[in-house]
Amino acid sequence: MYHSNLIKNKIFSKKNSYKILFKKEITPQIKQIEINAPEIALKAKAGQFIVLIVDKKGERIPLTIVDWRKTEGTITLIFQEIGVSTKKLGALKVGDEILNIVGPLGNPSHIEKYGSVAIICGGVGTAAAFPIARALKKAGNTIISIIGAQNKRSLILEHEMKKVSDKVYISTDDGSKGQKGFVSEVLKLLIDKQYRPNIVYAIGPTVMMKAIAEITKQHEIRTIVSLNPIMIDGMGMCGTCRVSIDDETKFACIDGPEFDAYAVNFNELINRLRIFSNAEKTALEVYKKNT
Ligand SMILES: Cc1cc2nc3c(=O)[nH]c(=O)nc-3n(C[C@H](O)[C@H](O)[C@H](O)COP(=O)(O)OP(=O)(O)OC[C@H]3O[C@@H](n4cnc5c(N)ncnc54)[C@H](O)[C@@H]3O)c2cc1C
Ligand code: FES
Repeated sequence: MYHSNLIKNKIFSKKNSYKILFKKEITPQIKQIEINAPEIALKAKAGQFIVLIVDKKGERIPLTIVDWRKTEGTITLIFQEIGVSTKKLGALKVGDEILNIVGPLGNPSHIEKYGSVAIICGGVGTAAAFPIARALKKAGNTIISIIGAQNKRSLILEHEMKKVSDKVYISTDDGSKGQKGFVSEVLKLLIDKQYRPNIVYAIGPTVMMKAIAEITKQHEIRTIVSLNPIMIDGMGMCGTCRVSIDDETKFACIDGPEFDAYAVNFNELINRLRIFSNAEKTALEVYKKNT
């Protein structure tokens, strides 16, 4: 109770106008919005995220800062509509305001010249991977990206990833574009052809990141994952985002979101992500009934 009051009264007390200035439907379920948020745009770095609350009845949800424009004072978010909060956000139009946004949160990605870097991303994880790939490219790395999606229609940011990569491989679960199957299978094929990047960034569904870590571990290729546990305050106070890293409890929001993939207890994270699934399902049914 103390924490929820603190969050309501303090963290979200500053009144800014988080107006939506641009909106694009990338796919019927995936939306891109550009929001007026000058203070966040000024400080944002690759790998960071915000926590937003759509309206007075809304929950706090974390979303990656995909892009930011310091001079215009805007940030760009890309999100998949899966539950009540993301559906409410997706229903907003240009000119509408988001109740509140706090950020940038989380540690920025560590950017340096590693040499050869593989960026492996799946689903809406490509949105989170894009600013990291861009920063790593700018630092002089050679980038090979592997982008995955369920099908051709749900593949996002292909053009943008091509701009910041030396080569892009695509895979879709149904084979409607690129190689049929998962991004992990593309990585396996490349490794079989002696591809050995100095570092791998894997960003996407937890099961995908786990599969990538299992492959890269066999070849001792350093791997970083960006974890997506449930987050509420995003500031290390509520403890919801706790993850086990080398058997130590860490808070993904303040210690991460990026971690050494070999140290992550993925099975525990997968189980924790399921904790609220019944409540989320009920909330979505109620929302659908009322809209
Ligand atoms: C650091 C971070 C960055 C993220 N960036 C993006 C992004 O750029 N684009 C994007 O589409 N999604 C992103 N997500 C996931 C996004 O936060 C969830 O999809 C969103 O919170 C779902 O809320 P909902 O009410 O629509 O769905 P719900 O029905 O409430 O939940 C659906 C599923 O979303 C996840 N989820 C729900 N609430 C939260 C929460 N408070 N925190 C984290 N996960 C939650 C759970 O896996 C849950 O099973 C990110 C998550 C994290 C932790
Ligand atoms: S989200 Fe609350 S401690 Fe990380």
